[in-house]
Amino acid sequence: MTKTVYIKTVGCQMNVLDSEMVIADLKRHGYTVVDTPGEADLLLYNTCSIREQAEEKTYSALGKLKETKARHPEKTIGVMGCMAQKDQETIFRRAPFVDMVVGPGQLHAIPDMLTKVTSGEGRQMAVSLGRKDGKQTVVARSHETFDPLRDPTMRPTPFQAYLRIQIGCDKFCTYCVVPNTRGPEQGRSPEEIVSEARVLAEQGALEITLLGQTVNSYRHRGPDGETDMAGLLERLHDIDGLKRIKFVTNYPKDMTARLLETIRDLPKVSPYLHVPAQSGSDAVLKRMKRGYTIADYMEMFERIETILPEASVSSDFIVGFCGETDEDFQKSVKLIERCRFKNSFIFQYSVREGTKAAANLIDDVPREVKAARNNELLAVQDRISKEDNQKLIGGTVEVLVEGPSKKADKSDPEAPVVQMTGRTICDRIVVFDGNRRQAGQLMDIQIDDVSSHTLIGRVKTVEVVSLGMPG
Ligand code: 5AD
Ligand code: SF4
Repeated sequence: MTKTVYIKTVGCQMNVLDSEMVIADLKRHGYTVVDTPGEADLLLYNTCSIREQAEEKTYSALGKLKETKARHPEKTIGVMGCMAQKDQETIFRRAPFVDMVVGPGQLHAIPDMLTKVTSGEGRQMAVSLGRKDGKQTVVARSHETFDPLRDPTMRPTPFQAYLRIQIGCDKFCTYCVVPNTRGPEQGRSPEEIVSEARVLAEQGALEITLLGQTVNSYRHRGPDGETDMAGLLERLHDIDGLKRIKFVTNYPKDMTARLLETIRDLPKVSPYLHVPAQSGSDAVLKRMKRGYTIADYMEMFERIETILPEASVSSDFIVGFCGETDEDFQKSVKLIERCRFKNSFIFQYSVREGTKAAANLIDDVPREVKAARNNELLAVQDRISKEDNQKLIGGTVEVLVEGPSKKADKSDPEAPVVQMTGRTICDRIVVFDGNRRQAGQLMDIQIDDVSSHTLIGRVKTVEVVSLGMPG
């Protein structure tokens, strides 16, 4: 008899990829995926710890399962991902009906844990070691990657795939929980990465997105010497079938000229660079322990402009970090105005247990001030994004078509014309009227209109000159 699994994923692309791996593994163990918790024997929640709000949402979703479990004690409930690693026993305390807690470095343990739960051995927990629980190498080994298993059906689209090149993070920004939940930074071996990329290409992936917390810091030492991000991109570029290579997220200090020149020289590599600044104020950056000043960030930004003028750069900002004054905040506004990012993700600071900021700094910016700064920064970024998008009106962009847009009329799956969506190589979102068969194609779209987040266009038609039929 087949068993059924429902999985709910929140958080970053790493989590989306982890869910893909876990589902591939469970399918090999006889599970099929279902779309609703009601139909499932196994309910998995892949969780995020980056901000308090994400965690509270998960705890409230788990709270709703209390009754489900009371009515169906035979169902198994598992919590995986960063919250599992961070909260561990607390999850069992706050949601006693949970059967399994699995950290992101222990996902391979799920099938064994399931056997134990279903054979009556009680609740199970598998987490990696904490950063101070042993020697660095031992801690690192407890955060395992789980990548060779893939399941194409779990991907965002059949022709787009994520590929992890690095796990963990050693930067220890004072606000961030990731070095604790994902462990020490480890680059996967280039051989493993390239062979996985080949398999993805054979399965139909046209675009791969390389994932790491600081992908451009990627390094791997092997018997043949050291490979860095530039070297890795060169090796991936040779793979037949792949058309686009993207990568997220970058760390400002590691955006070297060598890497930028490599991106410039490899046509399949996307010149979209997500390089979070986090703040425009040196004093705040120092308290965040980001390891650079605004002068350093600007030097990097100018290096991008010189070597890769066609690049599109995006950023993350945290507003309301400990001690952020109005003056500090205005410096973030100024940075957005100077760099004119393609887009910025803006977050209100949220204290994370276990971080240096939680231990040593005071969360002294009131909630309303955080919200007001968030809105102000978003408005500035939106205005700039719109102004820069307007420059694209009348031009043509090449788009990898992903599928019907969110606004597409889903009521009639046979409708000949639907709104389709895709992205340019610089990660700009484009919508146009087309048909479902165009998904997975690279198409030229002429841009007629724009908003701050979207380009609106139409399929560029090539004028065909009729020469008449011969004979
Ligand atoms: N509070 C608010 N935002 C945070 N981020 C990371 N940690 C926190 C926190 N404690 C943001 C950073 C990071 C993005 C993924 O999330 O901007 O780049
Ligand atoms: Fe967190 Fe900083 Fe590492 Fe990014 S670089 S994951 S913000 S510690």
